[in-house]
Amino acid sequence: MCGIVGYSGYLLAVPRILNCLSALEYRGYDSSGIAYLNGGKLEVAKRVGKLENLANHLKTKTIPASCAIGHTRWATHGEPSIENAHPHTDENNVIALVHNGILENYTDIKKSLEGKGVTFYSETDTEVFAKFFSWNLFDENPELKEYYAKYYAMHNTVHNTFKISKKRIIKALKHTISMCEGAFAIAILIKGYEDTVFFAKRKSPLILGKCDESFMLASDIPALLGYTNKFYTIDDDELGFIEPDKASVFDVNLKPKKLKFHNVSIAPEQVMLGEYHHFMEKEIEEGAGSVLSTISRIEKIRALEKIPAQIFSGDFNLHISACGTALNAGLIAKYIIENQLRIPVDIDYASEFRYKKPLLNNKSVCLFISQSGETADTISCAELAKSAGATSIAITNVAATRLESITDYLIPTSAGPEIAVASTKAYLAQLAALYDFVTYVAKNKGIPLEFSMDSVKNSVIKNNGVDYSVQIREVAGLIKDYESIYFIGRGIDYFLAVESALKLKEVSYIHCEALPAGELKHGSLALIKQDSIVIALLTQSALIEKMLNNIHEINSRGAKIILFSPFTELKPFVFKFIEVPKVNDSLAPFSVIKPLQILAYKIAVSKNLDPDKPRNLAKSVTVE
Ligand code: AGP
Repeated sequence: MCGIVGYSGYLLAVPRILNCLSALEYRGYDSSGIAYLNGGKLEVAKRVGKLENLANHLKTKTIPASCAIGHTRWATHGEPSIENAHPHTDENNVIALVHNGILENYTDIKKSLEGKGVTFYSETDTEVFAKFFSWNLFDENPELKEYYAKYYAMHNTVHNTFKISKKRIIKALKHTISMCEGAFAIAILIKGYEDTVFFAKRKSPLILGKCDESFMLASDIPALLGYTNKFYTIDDDELGFIEPDKASVFDVNLKPKKLKFHNVSIAPEQVMLGEYHHFMEKEIEEGAGSVLSTISRIEKIRALEKIPAQIFSGDFNLHISACGTALNAGLIAKYIIENQLRIPVDIDYASEFRYKKPLLNNKSVCLFISQSGETADTISCAELAKSAGATSIAITNVAATRLESITDYLIPTSAGPEIAVASTKAYLAQLAALYDFVTYVAKNKGIPLEFSMDSVKNSVIKNNGVDYSVQIREVAGLIKDYESIYFIGRGIDYFLAVESALKLKEVSYIHCEALPAGELKHGSLALIKQDSIVIALLTQSALIEKMLNNIHEINSRGAKIILFSPFTELKPFVFKFIEVPKVNDSLAPFSVIKPLQILAYKIAVSKNLDPDKPRNLAKSVTVE
């Protein structure tokens, strides 16, 4: 995914755009760019790599523009390069456009434009968007566009006789998006409109912010928190423009929308580093709070009670689908539901679920877990569930997301904005929401559970009091240069090992593999050699003996085991022992995951990597 931002007001636009882009950089950091109208000229600046490259280029200039758009990119079509960086312009440099999303029919549109003599400088779908809009704006009349551009360049302003009315611009924009398939949030500058940013949106998020003397557009709310807390969530196929004192939004039939701005209570410090070095470090520390605030919010808004109890009666079937860490939270839920409620759970990566012809019907209950609520594969699964007549429930951490709009019910997590690409506090918040969901189903079915939500709260509070920093820093130093690291566990510990392996690999670039401990001898043990590092998780009392057998088998190959466990009697058998608090077996995730998240963070930092923005990744994958 990418981040876009737009501003129209009376103050210097460029510093403000850069500030907002820095809050959006977690959405993609392959390149960044800005376009602004400066004394009639449409100017574009772009840089490959992190935003600081663009900021360093611009800081030498004082740009008087008070209207601008900006973009930070996660490359989907075309490698990270200047040519592929946004903003993209049309051939006469009359318009500049930034885009978050994916234009699925861009090759057809590109072919048709090439057939009319339009040429392209990049591999991106966004350049096609820009040139397609420009083509429609000038009624497919290149002479008019040429004349407009030339006249404009000569007179450095647009004489009204040549000025294209905003009404005509909006009509051309509506026509353009009606021909486009896929997801988009776009912001556009047009020569001659010194104070206007045009926009349109479908599936990709776009937020309108109302400031004192200006309006702003951004891909998410945190990007604008430094300037306002009044927001309007632009809906699918809405389009319009912002001017310093006015925002005009139209629906798909070009009927003006009455804008109702809602106040958002995210404090700016929630999206600032404070005394931490990285957002990942901060967000790991916020994990316990995320659990407590999620449980309290679910209770306060009675989110579970809004889900009709009868959907869990009779022969309902339960499905979970998500991606990455969200899926790993689902794996824990599957384990707990099957282990304690004795209800079978079908679970799959969203990218698999949607193509496996899942057995869905009107008795199906589908849980879709997504921190961002924007992940394309997960959204497609929710659409699939809806079309199958299933009941769908979203567990998301961001307000007013596309996933929420598609599903029937919402169980919100309250981790606050999660900026680091590696999900940590949101994972714990997702677990809290899932455990709460389990208690709701259990209550409706009269099934006793081994845990309560109070015990969940107590387990995170207990764990939060433990200082892991010294032990983890030592272990990080010992293993940071390994090329491969293996994680093993049994039962719920295996699913925790899966998440821990993902966390470490995505921020340290070490190849990490999680295995059910009992599986080792069925092949993977061949990889274990003298000094191999095996990280073992053991929190389940009933599995101590079995895991001890695995520990012996690994030790006999000269490998080094780092054990995360409350069972201190095992310390003599392993290379390193990290003690975690003893909690009820079913609450293990709330005690063991934090030191493993810290380990991933410490190793990334010890390798001088940026744990907040790992290479090739983005915070949410809004393309399939
Ligand atoms: C996790 O650390 C990764 N950032 C990634 O696997 C992420 O969990 C996945 O892309 C799903 O994102 P979502 O929760 O926003 O849908």
